[in-house]
Amino acid sequence: MSTVVETDVLIVGSGPAGASAALALSTYGVPNIVVTRYASLADTPRAHITNQRTMEVLRDLGVEQEVVAQATPQHLMGNTTFCTSLAGEELGRVRSWGNEPLVQAEHELASPTRMCDMPQHLMEPVLVNAAVARGTRLRFQNEYLSHTQDADGVTATVRDRLRGDTYEIRAKYLIGADGGRSRVAADARLPMGGQMGVAGSISIVFEADLSKYTAHRPSTLYWVLAPGATVGGIGAGLVRCVRPWNEWLIVWGYDVNAGAPDLTTEYAESVVRQLVGDDDIPVTVRSSSAWTVNEMYAESYANGRVFCAGDAVHRHPPSNGLGSNTSIQDAYNLAWKLKLVLDGTAHPKLLDSYTAERAPVGRQIVTRANRSIRETAPVFEALDGLSPQTPEQLWANIAARKDATEAAEKQRAKLREAIAFKVYEFNAHGVDLNQRYPADGSAAIVPDGTPDPGFARDPELYHQPSSRPGARLPHAWITSGTRTLSTLDTIGRGRFTLLTGIGGEAWVRAAEGQEVEITAVVIGPGQQYEDPYGDWARLREIPDAGALLVRPDGFVAFRHAGAGPEAGKLLAEDAGKLLADA
Ligand code: FDA
Repeated sequence: MSTVVETDVLIVGSGPAGASAALALSTYGVPNIVVTRYASLADTPRAHITNQRTMEVLRDLGVEQEVVAQATPQHLMGNTTFCTSLAGEELGRVRSWGNEPLVQAEHELASPTRMCDMPQHLMEPVLVNAAVARGTRLRFQNEYLSHTQDADGVTATVRDRLRGDTYEIRAKYLIGADGGRSRVAADARLPMGGQMGVAGSISIVFEADLSKYTAHRPSTLYWVLAPGATVGGIGAGLVRCVRPWNEWLIVWGYDVNAGAPDLTTEYAESVVRQLVGDDDIPVTVRSSSAWTVNEMYAESYANGRVFCAGDAVHRHPPSNGLGSNTSIQDAYNLAWKLKLVLDGTAHPKLLDSYTAERAPVGRQIVTRANRSIRETAPVFEALDGLSPQTPEQLWANIAARKDATEAAEKQRAKLREAIAFKVYEFNAHGVDLNQRYPADGSAAIVPDGTPDPGFARDPELYHQPSSRPGARLPHAWITSGTRTLSTLDTIGRGRFTLLTGIGGEAWVRAAEGQEVEITAVVIGPGQQYEDPYGDWARLREIPDAGALLVRPDGFVAFRHAGAGPEAGKLLAEDAGKLLADA
């Protein structure tokens, strides 16, 4: 007779979404099991750009330093180059990923963390090792087959691929983090918008010492405009640095209607040769695989006790580097809610806020990533390179920009403009950090009645901090004795935090008397934390005695400008609303 394995949360998948869900749940003490289909974690680099918001999540989960130690640092990421091949002509560059001086300052002001380049095959072990060390039970070569759910839980049927038999896991909740072909999302009948298979792409992982062409313009990405580069793919040929400067990944397109090419080593080498442009450099192809560009997002991320996260609910090309980042952030949003529902502190209605908050983000990033592909076309257009033509014609068009003619001057200007416009893909700080959850749409936010401040500058390019309910708590450097820390370091670790200042004693007393754990943080002269630079006073948008209640995931749950005898009542009422009066 087969045994039914029991747990609180079953997670399908050990990619960025599943691994970080496991890590957060285990950090919060929630029993969980991960089943994952293959015998190992990701064996190719895949995702790499890791943005500040994700680094904040990893900081709270205690693995930031491990990631920093292994990642390529931000200053080696930033010269996104457009060229005819690595050895060929350079057409222009974009200072990227926070390396443009003004944007760099914005990065420093926005967060205690730094963006970095952490390839997925290095990131997954960090997340999974920490999750397992904290209690996650992980089963490789175990494949989710199906599930049923009832009022009390979910029963999943899983195949042990090593033994070949199936067994059941009974969980109170199921998280489908099983990627872009999610069976869990399909079985849960999550409503999807958009379409799959918009274009065809191949990835080729290879080793070659390319320092000769890269060390003087260090970058994560080198885009190649060459014959065939507009067919399928992600806008142009891409040579992406995995480890500076000898491990690489190429993304090259194919016509999705004609089907993927036969991925022989000879074919892969020919693509590498074309994009590198120097046949004297020894190249070792490690692997190649075909995938499609998708433009699909789920309208709902949950059905009953089944929740999906990551590529299962947002499927899009790697442009802007948002997939793994958003997957980790989905998991972080869901984990604390599951914890509070499972320990009886919150009503299950709290879980409805997961879709309300994350589905708009998913839709936005799917749209953004696909738009970024289309926004590469003007670079080709500036070189008269969009229409079908012979390689010789394309090279002649590209060479024409060097002429001393009025037409060539116009062409140069058009090219500069088209390349500069790519900041929306390579330096979109607002896309990374401006997530604001709808104060009137999510049960996990208590509106404070103030109007939406909107954005003073382009919300995709520029981060704008806000303490309005639904916004991420602004970062400011504060001190505690001789220690300097971020306001973000006072929050998290699975609990609510109440931030107040001098005169906010009533809030502190009220926080102590709540059923849900709320840590009170007082910032001001002579208090537990001080604000010597005045940064916090500028950013908090409330007077000293007001209060911000911050959720475990760092988003502001409520904001009150005043204090007084009613603080206890207000906090109890607001906490009740948040936890849906469990
Ligand atoms: P992911 O696909 O990573 O993981 C799914 C997991 O589920 C796997 O462990 C799989 O084995 C498992 N699984 C599937 N079916 C199962 C079943 N039936 N039973 C058990 N287990 C099952 N993103 C980013 O943020 N920055 C970037 O720079 C890039 N760059 C990039 C480059 C390239 C070339 C690609 C192809 C992709 C990117 N991405 C990216 C995207 C990123 O790789 C992607 O968004 C994340 O891997 C998604 O993480 P998930 O955990 O959701 O799915």
